Amino acid sequence: MRITDTSDLWWKTGVIYCVDVETFFDSDGDGIGDLAGLAQRVDYLAELGVTCLWLMPFYPTPGRDDGYDITDFYGVDHRLGHHGDLVELIRTARDRGMRVIADLVVNHTSDRHPWFKSARSSKDSPYRDFYVWRSEPPPDTSREVVFPDQEQSIWTLDEKTGEWYLHHFYRHQPDLNVANPQVRDEIAKAIGFWLEVGLSGFRVDAVPYFLSMLGVDSKELAEFANPHEYLRALTKFMGRRCGDAVLLGEVNLPYKEQLEYFGGAEGGELTMMFDFILMQNTYLAMARQDARPLARALKDRPQTTPDCQWATFVRNHDELTLDKLSDSERQEVFDAFGADPSMQVYGRGLKRRVPPMMDGDPRRIRLMYSLLFTLPGTPVLYYGEEIGMGENLEAEGRMAVRTPMQWTADASAGFSTAPPHRLVARVTGGGYGPEHVNVAGQRRDQGSLLRFITLLTQRYRECPELGWGHYEVLSHRTPSVLAHRCTWDDASMLAVHNLSSEAVTVSLVLGDPPLGPSGETDGGWRGVVLVDLLPSGDYPEDGIPVADDGAVTVPLAGYGYAWLRIQHPAQRRLI
Ligand code: GLC
Repeated sequence: MRITDTSDLWWKTGVIYCVDVETFFDSDGDGIGDLAGLAQRVDYLAELGVTCLWLMPFYPTPGRDDGYDITDFYGVDHRLGHHGDLVELIRTARDRGMRVIADLVVNHTSDRHPWFKSARSSKDSPYRDFYVWRSEPPPDTSREVVFPDQEQSIWTLDEKTGEWYLHHFYRHQPDLNVANPQVRDEIAKAIGFWLEVGLSGFRVDAVPYFLSMLGVDSKELAEFANPHEYLRALTKFMGRRCGDAVLLGEVNLPYKEQLEYFGGAEGGELTMMFDFILMQNTYLAMARQDARPLARALKDRPQTTPDCQWATFVRNHDELTLDKLSDSERQEVFDAFGADPSMQVYGRGLKRRVPPMMDGDPRRIRLMYSLLFTLPGTPVLYYGEEIGMGENLEAEGRMAVRTPMQWTADASAGFSTAPPHRLVARVTGGGYGPEHVNVAGQRRDQGSLLRFITLLTQRYRECPELGWGHYEVLSHRTPSVLAHRCTWDDASMLAVHNLSSEAVTVSLVLGDPPLGPSGETDGGWRGVVLVDLLPSGDYPEDGIPVADDGAVTVPLAGYGYAWLRIQHPAQRRLI
């Protein structure tokens, strides 16, 4: 493989870590996490193997959607620090080989943004057309709202001017009108600004809503054409300003539509997209102890262009959405992982984190994270996953998983020197509270989840086939097992995951023999063995032999998994 093909595609072998500055580490004892605190914990993240930090919104905000309601696209929420602190964080991260990206929330602003304040003051406001208005009473849109517990319509009447404004999310988040060239310029300027400050790209919030031209009249639409042309232009603009910056998009749509947001077969739009379909099918497969939903999702997943990449995740900061499963499939996942209505939200998702959903079973938790790091794509961790934090079900909705990071066993979790009642969010209690789950304890424990996840990030980084390679889902007769093979150049790996509690033995045929280090193919399967890349102790040290036809048999414990390098006899890759 040539340098020109791969070496700059850092996002294809990255480990992304999503952090909410407010709840990560408080450096000044006011009970609120801050940028200076996060900078102090960059070495911890570097040791974990993180290569890219994703900062959730840190902009000025009234805080009615946890920072996703912004009043100034150029500012820093003063509770978290100021621009100087942000630059120090970015510099420190860069020094440890880590990039920083941040949420770009441009579908809407807060209703307290000066643009909206002006827009709603008069129909003649210069900012009126920054938002989307209608003068006729809206039809019933109750099925289109994103937060059905709070909103009944995506249009709200603004008394003063007697017109309705569009908001896909909360009514205090009016949608920006991206058909307006001035709005497009403002978005480009904000992107340009943060790139100059040192960000390496953005997690783009709510992309399909951001690009939707709903409410825009057809004359304007003709002029501004297709939203994908706009996205392509925005991507090009970013590329001119910063060649290796990425746009990681939140696009929770069926695969076929997602592909369009990559720019279809030509690419050129989003660099990365979260794989919501694979995530949801992972939970369905785990609930059924049957790997077939996962295998099906991987087979259905469209090929991207070489520069693009899927981002894999098993938890994020929102509800664990199951909206793309059928009603009965969703019910199966609810029954398995959150049967109590207090664990569910919006009728489509769960408020829980992975370990409590897996009943704290370490085998199953590790299985989940082994999947995360081997499912083709770039893994994204949500803060606290590496130590197995739980949720606070008493917190409202999605806030259940936005509790303070647990550094030590003390009552404020080592997150802050302020007492627990003065913290920005309540610390998780019970069996997942800081006295049981914290970084300090796990750093001292060789058998901890933290050590395990660190091992996974290291192995993942050493296995280029996982990020850069192509994959095949292998057929066999053991329904509980997902077997997939990833290959890039002369590196090839078989990953096997047994979703059942019963031990199994899976027999399969591997396909083409691996290449030798100089690309040689003549030896066939002669001398090829499967080498265990995780030191499980379950397999022979000199490897599992492969038969002449590529057939192999792998035993797996209940909830067992293995990363097996398909090792050519002349290969010298690190194992
Ligand atoms: C995205 C964010 C979510 C937020 C919403 C509105 O879906 O992930 O947290 O509430 O956008 O900005």
